[in-house]
Amino acid sequence: MATSSRFQVYVLAFCATLLIQSGCYGHSVHQRKHTALFIFGDSTFDVGNNNYINTSTYFQANFFPYGETFFSHPTGRFSDGRLIPDIIAEYANLPMIPPYLQPGFDNYTNGVNFASSGAGVLAETHQGFVLDLKTQLGYFKNVEKQLRHRLGEAEAHTLLSEAVYLIAIGSGDYSFPFIANSSLFESHTHEEYVGMVIGNLTNVIKEIYEKGGRRFGIKGIGNLGCIPGLRIVKPGNTSTCNEEVNALSKLHNRVLAKALLELKGQLQDFIYSNPNLYPYADDVVHNPSKYGFKEAEMACCGSGPLRRISSCGGKRGVTEYQLCDNVTDYVYFDSGHPTERYNQKLSKLWWSHTPDVTGRYINLKELFEV
Ligand SMILES: *[C@@H]1O[C@H](CO)[C@@H](O)[C@H](O)[C@H]1NC(C)=O
Ligand SMILES: *[C@@H]1O[C@H](CO)[C@@H](O)[C@H](O)[C@H]1NC(C)=O
Ligand SMILES: *[C@@H]1O[C@H](CO)[C@@H](O)[C@H](O)[C@H]1NC(C)=O
Ligand SMILES: *[C@@H]1O[C@H](CO)[C@@H](O)[C@H](O)[C@H]1NC(C)=O
Ligand SMILES: *[C@@H]1O[C@H](CO)[C@@H](O)[C@H](O)[C@H]1NC(C)=O
Ligand SMILES: *[C@@H]1O[C@H](CO)[C@@H](O)[C@H](O)[C@H]1NC(C)=O
Repeated sequence: MATSSRFQVYVLAFCATLLIQSGCYGHSVHQRKHTALFIFGDSTFDVGNNNYINTSTYFQANFFPYGETFFSHPTGRFSDGRLIPDIIAEYANLPMIPPYLQPGFDNYTNGVNFASSGAGVLAETHQGFVLDLKTQLGYFKNVEKQLRHRLGEAEAHTLLSEAVYLIAIGSGDYSFPFIANSSLFESHTHEEYVGMVIGNLTNVIKEIYEKGGRRFGIKGIGNLGCIPGLRIVKPGNTSTCNEEVNALSKLHNRVLAKALLELKGQLQDFIYSNPNLYPYADDVVHNPSKYGFKEAEMACCGSGPLRRISSCGGKRGVTEYQLCDNVTDYVYFDSGHPTERYNQKLSKLWWSHTPDVTGRYINLKELFEV
């Protein structure tokens, strides 16, 4: 025991030294115990659940060229390659976590992914086409029952309380009103609408807590108004970010941060990582070359100005689309989703950024190690 903790101190010091030079990310963090990973969210986290539901191709990515780089075949992920939960699983020494609806998959020892492209916190968002957050919670409750049944009360309790719960949802609730008509959005002020989103989100977090969950990684919303599909295009195809959508995203992040701090005061042993990635995302979009990107306005795959029409793959009504030659130059793969390269940068930052004392800025590495 004493030897092992001295070894841990040594490895940490070694990593701290390495970090300064080259980074020590993802390399065997010594988990003292097994940590499962349960994932909730929208297309930023969906690794294939929507392949198995009756929906529209607008919410599916199980066709070429999605998946073309890392997997060499489509998987349902809205990117050329991996998503943040795939990369975090690698950092945590876990295998990739499969989608809940994958036929035949029922071993939840390492966790499972419930995320669904197009899903919102609110049931109204893309209703009928997605697994909304409450449906995802219902699936989690099935998993929790199965674990208690198979492993017994004590072992299931350990697994659920030591697991990390990653959540990324909300973008759909804010981009939806700008894509189609939403009477719910129209009939409320921005503050009221964001209040409903955060109210429903915190209720779901509380329910996971009641089932034994303690460690949460909750992603805010990025600069959603800067995705190609929501940009304001001007004559000559120059474009600017949609500042109304960005203002909603920032409001969401502020209200979420406050709600989480309140939960921490109410729920014993509740710990969370809720990094403020917004300033980083904004800098990437405005200064792409600083981060090794050449293009942060135009999508790699799609049609029309900025390839902002969501026609990547040619299966969503519009059959024609363009695909860029070199995806590593791009921040966005399609009209609304990052390339794997950008997902890698966001994952690395969330995993290992400098913690601060508020609790909000605990990084994911710490969350897995506590
Ligand atoms: C899937 O949705 C379509 C269109 O809404 C409907 O016609 C069809 O019956 C549905 N299929 C199943 C299996 O639910
Ligand atoms: C479930 O997966 C875990 C981890 O991979 C493995 O140790 C265990 O044997 C599996 N359980 C069953 C019933 O297959
Ligand atoms: C929104 O509603 C208006 C009025 O009901 C309608 O004319 C318009 O086509 C709708 N737009 C979309 C995108 O559904
Ligand atoms: C949850 O969302 C619904 C709309 O789907 C809303 O009517 C309700 O007030 C929200 N709940 C909370 C606690 O904010
Ligand atoms: C703007 O984009 C459209 C669609 O890609 C293209 O047809 C048009 O030529 C572009 N205009 C300019 C000025 O580049
Ligand atoms: C793609 O772009 C990257 C970075 O700009 C460059 O290093 C690489 O050689 C390019 N690959 C191809 C096939 O052009």
